[in-house]
Amino acid sequence: MDDLIQRAAKDLAAAKNVVALTGAGISVESGIPPFRGKGGVWEKIDPMEYAHIDAFLRDPAKVWNVLIKEMKGVVDRAEPNDAHRGLARLEEMGILKTIITQNVDGLHQAAGNTDVIEFHGNFAWQKCLDCGNRCETSQINTEQIPPRCHCGGIFRPEVIFFGELIPPQHLSRSQLVASQCDIMLVMGTSAVVQPAALMPVISKQSGAKVIEINPERTPLTGTISDYIIQGKGGEVTNQIIAKLEKLIQ
Ligand code: OAD
Repeated sequence: MDDLIQRAAKDLAAAKNVVALTGAGISVESGIPPFRGKGGVWEKIDPMEYAHIDAFLRDPAKVWNVLIKEMKGVVDRAEPNDAHRGLARLEEMGILKTIITQNVDGLHQAAGNTDVIEFHGNFAWQKCLDCGNRCETSQINTEQIPPRCHCGGIFRPEVIFFGELIPPQHLSRSQLVASQCDIMLVMGTSAVVQPAALMPVISKQSGAKVIEINPERTPLTGTISDYIIQGKGGEVTNQIIAKLEKLIQ
């Protein structure tokens, strides 16, 4: 693993335009569970029953009670971890330009990254299904479920449910930055949900190196990615940054 850390530090030091694609794994060390795998949210509940837009519209109280209320508690308490802070440091060093994240927890911005494309939306805001009024999730009173706007309409989080389209401006900008980078850093994503998982493929086809950081192999491993550093996001990022700081001194 030491060789790969060294290799990643060298590759990043030589790069001019790095883009990262991140997923739930990067927030695991902040106490937010992933969706798939051991301890994952979809191990306990069926996403088609709780995370599909049709399921939400059919029974918003059920989805609020089982999924959204719990998520609110977890996200409210979460703080950025070393992986988020490492990516913020990479931006500060002028190496990382943009993060495309599938996460809705806002932790990249909290860590200090300034160009974050929130592919699946942001959980920090709720929108009334009837009048479109927006309200911060932290201000939502969950004593009444589903929470309602003063107009009587039901609030929904400003995240993408299954069955909904990625906002076109986020999709097209992601495709653009993925096609222009010289390194695509893929961290903490199982790379099975489309179209997010296509971004590293676009980078590869455009001539970029693709580096994965993940304790587990993914469908990109050995096909799209040049190499994978198998470890936890925070630990691996700390080691890469330590080497990188020596290289660019
Ligand atoms: P997943 O839950 O599918 O995958 C999490 C990945 O993180 C796995 O590959 C794990 O091996 C890895 N992982 C676990 N712990 C880690 C750690 N400490 N450091 C680094 N990696 C770690 O999450 P996503 O790929 O983000 O969509 O899932 C994609 C989408 O599926 C989500 O945005 C969500 C979900 O359904 C919607 O809700 C629309």
